[in-house]
Amino acid sequence: MNLNNISVLSRHVLLRKHVLGRSWLTFAKIRFLQCASKLVANTILTKLVNNRTAFPNPPSRTLFLTACLFNSKNDNIDEEDVIEAEIEELFQEQIPLGLGKDEHRVFIVHPDVKWGSKKQYLTKAALQMEEAVGLVKTLHNWSVVDTLILSTKTPEKRRIFGKGNFQILTEKIRSTPGVTAIFVNVERLSAASEKDLKEAWGVEVLDRYSLVLHIFRCNAKTKEAKLQISMAEIPLLRSRLRNEVENLDQQGGGSRYIMGSGETHYEMQQRLLKERELKIRAALEKLKKKRHLLRSQRKHKDFPIISVMGYTNCGKTTLIKALTGDTLEPKDQLFATLDVTVHAGQLPCHMTVLYVDTIGFLSQLPHQLIDSFSATLEDVIQSDLIIHVRDISHPETVNQKVNVLKVLSDLQVPDRLLNSIIEVHNKIDLVEGFEASDSEAIPISALKEHGLDVLKERMEEAVLKCTGRQAMTIKVQLNTPQLAWLYKEATVQLVDDTEDDCSANVKVIISRAAYGRYRKLFQVTS
Ligand code: GTP
Repeated sequence: MNLNNISVLSRHVLLRKHVLGRSWLTFAKIRFLQCASKLVANTILTKLVNNRTAFPNPPSRTLFLTACLFNSKNDNIDEEDVIEAEIEELFQEQIPLGLGKDEHRVFIVHPDVKWGSKKQYLTKAALQMEEAVGLVKTLHNWSVVDTLILSTKTPEKRRIFGKGNFQILTEKIRSTPGVTAIFVNVERLSAASEKDLKEAWGVEVLDRYSLVLHIFRCNAKTKEAKLQISMAEIPLLRSRLRNEVENLDQQGGGSRYIMGSGETHYEMQQRLLKERELKIRAALEKLKKKRHLLRSQRKHKDFPIISVMGYTNCGKTTLIKALTGDTLEPKDQLFATLDVTVHAGQLPCHMTVLYVDTIGFLSQLPHQLIDSFSATLEDVIQSDLIIHVRDISHPETVNQKVNVLKVLSDLQVPDRLLNSIIEVHNKIDLVEGFEASDSEAIPISALKEHGLDVLKERMEEAVLKCTGRQAMTIKVQLNTPQLAWLYKEATVQLVDDTEDDCSANVKVIISRAAYGRYRKLFQVTS
């Protein structure tokens, strides 16, 4: 790192005040950094790394990020690095639940609706509880200390449980030693009930939304995932703010003006939250454009795109690994995949296709959560074919299917895609005495690589149909660029050059559009 780089960075810092800019980031600091040698930058970095927990406030974090940039491996500070720092800061800045990476001993309560419109008919309370336990256990260092299923008529009301049941629950929680958080297995608790429950139990209270978000937060690695999670956290921050203000109001301080600002505490917090939301939206928009560009480059190359979807942990990544030979690491963990990743593979006709690995689904996943991942899921809407992978060994497999199809229709996946979904029944090796049903679904074991040939054939048939490609034999003149052109623009399957003249019969898979271009370019009439 030379002084030139340092001054480039400080210009960056000054110009992009919103990146690192805070009122505390004074010009003096920048002057100091301008004059700093690499040694000094390294010293700052080492100090901050060693004392990171002692510097939890934004100023020291930003200084930390700045020092990281100074320490960059190739001594090049590019736009990407700064955006990365901006996103990292947004991601670390406000963690709604403040759960961090701490250990938690969780008590799970499942409100069981026995009748009425809120009752879930395709599942049982015990199975829902099993899923809730799985969600908690997916988090490193979290454990379940006890569980309780309690009946209720009003899971959506401020008072979820009747008086008697609530008392039983509170007594049970109090008599269980070491509980640090309660997971109420409902889609979303209102700000008011969350506040009441926290007050009654004196520990952190989670619903499905906040728990799943926390799992996402722990698994997020890429910029896009981090931004999407930050976006999905906004509603949680809003309800926390509402609770804080209610508390302040009760103490008589909520509506007091902050000296000289003309704003109350609530108004200021609301404004900061709005600013945060706009910043995240803008950064997401930037990434969305980039993704759009990549997608159109992919489309330009004309590779058919197959999206692999399904409930979380059903085996999507394992299947893609088996189909492509890519070195992927499937994990027995919920929501291991948060980003769309693309993997190239070949169908039996040698045609290259791109498999898109997507985020897994979960029942009762709130809309806001899906919405914030819609940029990622846009790839699905743009694909040529969807494979719906089901874990057929799972006791909830039917319920999971219903949930996946519901999310797909909520995402407004076009009918042409919905009507051509190929359903795959995975993990047949775990079903004792498995017998294929007469349904159209294809039984496989992605792990043991059973049934993949049949699946590939079905995908090939469907891809040829939906992309308007056809298999044909074209007679080419070998002393022209015709064959080279076909290699580039179509899938060449076989070249038979046994003819006496200077020609060959070439078996190809070609799209209608490409064949039209071929005929025009080489003036082929028949
Ligand atoms: P998310 O990213 O969480 O949505 O998961 P996923 O759907 O990508 O599932 P993944 O491929 O990560 O597999 C989840 C677990 O199921 C892993 O432990 C896999 O080894 C296991 N698994 C996948 N397919 C099979 C199979 O055919 N048989 C068996 N026995 N296990 C499988």
